[in-house]
Amino acid sequence: WILMATAQTPTNIAVIKYWGKRDENLILPVNDSISVTLDPDHLCTTTTVAVSPSFDQDRMWLNGKEISLSGGRYQNCLREIRSRACDVEDKEKGIKIEKKDWEKLHLHIASYNNFPTAAGLASSAAGFACLVFSLAKLMNLKENQSQLSAIARQGSGSACRSLFGGFVKWIMGKEDNGSDSLAVQLVDEEHWNELVIIIAVVSSRQKETSSTSGMRESVQTSLLLQHRAKEIVPKRVVQMEKAIQNRDFPSFAQLTCADSNQFHAVCLDSSPPIFYMNDTSHRIISYVEKWNRSEGSPQVAYTFDAGPNAVLIARNRKVAAQLLQKLLFFFPPNSDTDLNSYVLGDNSI
Ligand code: DP6
Repeated sequence: WILMATAQTPTNIAVIKYWGKRDENLILPVNDSISVTLDPDHLCTTTTVAVSPSFDQDRMWLNGKEISLSGGRYQNCLREIRSRACDVEDKEKGIKIEKKDWEKLHLHIASYNNFPTAAGLASSAAGFACLVFSLAKLMNLKENQSQLSAIARQGSGSACRSLFGGFVKWIMGKEDNGSDSLAVQLVDEEHWNELVIIIAVVSSRQKETSSTSGMRESVQTSLLLQHRAKEIVPKRVVQMEKAIQNRDFPSFAQLTCADSNQFHAVCLDSSPPIFYMNDTSHRIISYVEKWNRSEGSPQVAYTFDAGPNAVLIARNRKVAAQLLQKLLFFFPPNSDTDLNSYVLGDNSI
């Protein structure tokens, strides 16, 4: 016999960034973060997990290619889930798995991204969230979404925020064992559904410094990171929650842009400095800043993760359409810039 479960999970984009760990093994952050989860139609991972007595080892395929599960992050997630597995019964198929059987049974996992991995867009967030959620379904875990988010966190920090739609906060927690470092939903996907997210793919090259090693270098060398985590982010998180509750776009945009810029300032303050944005990224920032100023109040927010691609959040569909037109005019595909494609997240949250 074989028993399967499938789940689909969108990626999320941080508007208050997570950058820096206080525990690298458990993936515990130095500050809270807030993100918006994208619409699953655009950037998402679909994962099918299967169990069968005929499987002789745990195996995983990503976009059709087998990958190793020996890394600590996969092992931590699998161990945490197995230890919480419950009895499962499928009367139709005559299958009964008892709690104690899960330790001996092996899993096959097949995961697909609906966007090219080569596009340089974050995939680990959706990937680990989807892995944890699909396994929790298969093994009948009784944990709620926040408790599951604390398991996904051990795969990749940002993954914990993809267990919910809408706007999500990852509470950093205080406990050494990480039990209180988990995600909660601030508002659901209907709360602010006029926002539209456009991702301008500036470069599809793999980033040179991974988030994991970049944040390690920042924690070890950047004084600005310490100041940001202690003095800036706690206040900013409160202001951001208020802006989201009130659907206050000017405050939301100001905080989002400022936080992205400070995250990249921390990268520059690291030794050796880390450059994630390129000239095209900088030109997009200048362009959006100028446009927002000429309109008298912000129409678009920008944020950049550990790479040069711009995530642009427009206040409504009309602004998004104008933005797309302007981007195509100022940064035509295949021009001397390497801004080569756009992914439009229509009504993306
Ligand atoms: C810049 O979650 O990819 O996107 O926990 O080491 O897997 P690990 O890092 P990851 O870092 C994401 C960093 C970021 C900001 C954010 O998503 O909050």
